Amino acid sequence: MAASMNNFDLTGGDLQWAQDVWTRTRAKIEAQCGRVGSGIPYIARDGRYGDKAAESIYWWTNGFWPGILWLMYAETGSKTCRRAAEAVETRLDTALAGYEGLHHDLGFMWTLSAGMDFKLTGNPLSRVRALHAANLLAGRYNPRGRFIRAWNKGHSGWIIIDSMMNLPLLYWASKEIEDPRYRYIAQDHADTVLKYLVRPDGSCNHIGILDVDTGALLETPAGQGFASGSSWSRGQAWALYGFALSYAHTGERRYLETALRIARYFTGEVSRFGFTPPVDFRAPEEPKKLDTSAGMIAAAGLLFLAGISENAEKDSNFGTAMKLLKTAEASYADWDTGRDSIIQMGTAQYHGKPEECHVPLIYSDYFFMESVYRLLHPGFEIW
Ligand code: GLY
Repeated sequence: MAASMNNFDLTGGDLQWAQDVWTRTRAKIEAQCGRVGSGIPYIARDGRYGDKAAESIYWWTNGFWPGILWLMYAETGSKTCRRAAEAVETRLDTALAGYEGLHHDLGFMWTLSAGMDFKLTGNPLSRVRALHAANLLAGRYNPRGRFIRAWNKGHSGWIIIDSMMNLPLLYWASKEIEDPRYRYIAQDHADTVLKYLVRPDGSCNHIGILDVDTGALLETPAGQGFASGSSWSRGQAWALYGFALSYAHTGERRYLETALRIARYFTGEVSRFGFTPPVDFRAPEEPKKLDTSAGMIAAAGLLFLAGISENAEKDSNFGTAMKLLKTAEASYADWDTGRDSIIQMGTAQYHGKPEECHVPLIYSDYFFMESVYRLLHPGFEIW
């Protein structure tokens, strides 16, 4: 990484907490691996994950289960977890070959599956898969507008804040094949997102629609949050972590300053809600809709940010991350090893289906686990 990692020292209480939680996570994931295996979980219902890939091999969350399994493998060397992660990675080849259903979330899907496999085992086929995914992501770049388009048909000028978490696949590819093209695309996109989606107060739009020929901003419609101009909490979390990662990979201070600005905003907002984020910080008080996944992604991002920055906000960002993690663990964790999923109370989108509101989401578990893993192994590179 271009930015130096100075990381953080865990004090006794936090260290004990992280070790205890990891022990319970390990028991939970080992039991879950026995049940889920090479299935690809998304939302758990009545304590059981189904196989989202049977419905859509292209679904954007299909990399989080292998990500969880690889974190377990990194810590324990579990052959069972490794075999399940490898089997999921092989299943995802159908998506790479099928192409038509692929979208802007190639980074989520292949960074945590093939990318993690290559980092941990050196498997050459995994490297090829991750490079292939990076090329497909780079192929979505619009050189006039200087952005990576979101979604497919009918969305040619659309950019979204979530895309910031897909850029590490491009930074990795540039480094891997010693060619800056992918990094140039990632930086152009990050600069466009910074210009049009990040607001001066550190809050973010979810979506921007740009003129495909000039890149001029046309509209910022509502997305997964409450409304246009509101503040979808998971989007703020993606932006926080994504800009921190863009800084880490490029050393460009504007990305660090942006990540810190978003972190200040997120901390101020989430502290008003007792450190469990609502789906949207600017939604009406009723109906009350919470999204623990936003808190877990923000916690992972804040820990990463605390690990790469040396400013006065390092302690504050670390402190917010610990409050987010401890609040979720104390209020919304299910440690019963007979049931799938750890963190409950996630919500896919504000105006989404009722059956996707206040549910266990696979990415809440992934980012909870990544955060705890990072507390115990601060220098570990994932994204
Ligand atoms: N597509 C990313 C999200 O729903 O947060």
